[in-house]
Amino acid sequence: MKIPFMRLDRQYALHKDEILSICDNVFSHGRVLQGKEVDSLENKLSEIHRSKHSVAVNSGTDALYFALLSLGILPKDKVIVPSLSFIASASPIERIGAIPVFVDSTFQYHSDVDQIIKIIRTEDIKCVVFVHLYGELVDLSYLYEECKKNDVILIEDGAQALGAVNGDYILGDNSDAATLSFDPMKIAGAYGSGGAVITNSDIVKQKIIRLRYHGRDENRVYVNLGYNSQMSSIQAAIIEFKIKKMTEWTKKRIEIARKYKSHILSGIIAPKENNNTTHVYHKYAIRCTSINRDEIKNKLLDLGIQTMIHYIKPLYSEPIFDIYKVDRSQFPVTEKLTNELLSLPIYPELLDSEVDFVIESLSRFS
Ligand SMILES: Cc1ncc(COP(=O)(O)O)c(C=O)c1O
Repeated sequence: MKIPFMRLDRQYALHKDEILSICDNVFSHGRVLQGKEVDSLENKLSEIHRSKHSVAVNSGTDALYFALLSLGILPKDKVIVPSLSFIASASPIERIGAIPVFVDSTFQYHSDVDQIIKIIRTEDIKCVVFVHLYGELVDLSYLYEECKKNDVILIEDGAQALGAVNGDYILGDNSDAATLSFDPMKIAGAYGSGGAVITNSDIVKQKIIRLRYHGRDENRVYVNLGYNSQMSSIQAAIIEFKIKKMTEWTKKRIEIARKYKSHILSGIIAPKENNNTTHVYHKYAIRCTSINRDEIKNKLLDLGIQTMIHYIKPLYSEPIFDIYKVDRSQFPVTEKLTNELLSLPIYPELLDSEVDFVIESLSRFS
């Protein structure tokens, strides 16, 4: 049996008619960039996140870069970032010339909030970027209060957490801005690239609208140096179509996650699902604690099951951050996790028989 890590081909086969009709509609009206579909997606995102504004851009990376710029982050400012995340959670900080300050993770995978609070109370920090890793939304209300008390900006990187809920709390509720990615691997992925910033600030919204198109203002005057980071109308319409499917798809992801968890044997720790939260399981990352992660990965591949590692290295170990000469011993949890984590296939199109095969295969080695 072959079980790839993602099956966008299967998703397309299941929804071909709707997707082709979206393309036909946009080709027919011809406004292929920043068309009415983009406005509609932005309204939808604001509705989901109860935010005043949403601004669509061309990637999650640009969304974070623009959020940092529009909130006034400058070269040499210190910005707290996770040590375990995708490179794009930290690279926009480097692009600005600001200084990343890495924090250790918890065994729940996300950054250690207590450590962040300790740092913002004692160091001159300008901003915190908090990543809701793998699709679990962490309640940041206390952190946000602390940030406000210490005059620190809080940005949520919600690239992996579209649709995640924690009690009454939704992405964007407790921060100055939150960012999303619609990269094809994401829960509501574009057939290309896409991202968005969610914010309640009129100023942030206005600055990002200018940044995404050459610094042009409402009077078509080029008032700032900007970029070309427009979202195409087709991608916006496809993302909105996928967002409408999200409740059903998330249900299926949760079902698969629970099935994996209930069959996981010794030597492996499954992700913890907290009461009161809707984890959207963008990734299902197990910890191989007393069995060798790389060996298991290879053995599963021999059986046709593709897994991935999120992430193979702590962010501070990437060569672009060598200049900061980070002391790895300060990050015991991230160091351990990067040797243990293994992401199993999880997507709504995964068949029951395939989930059973992953479970059965894993049980042979644990
Ligand atoms: C946590 C995180 N932040 C940022 C990004 C960047 O998003 P994009 O690939 O849309 O630029 C991604 C995804 O790829 C991500 O997973």
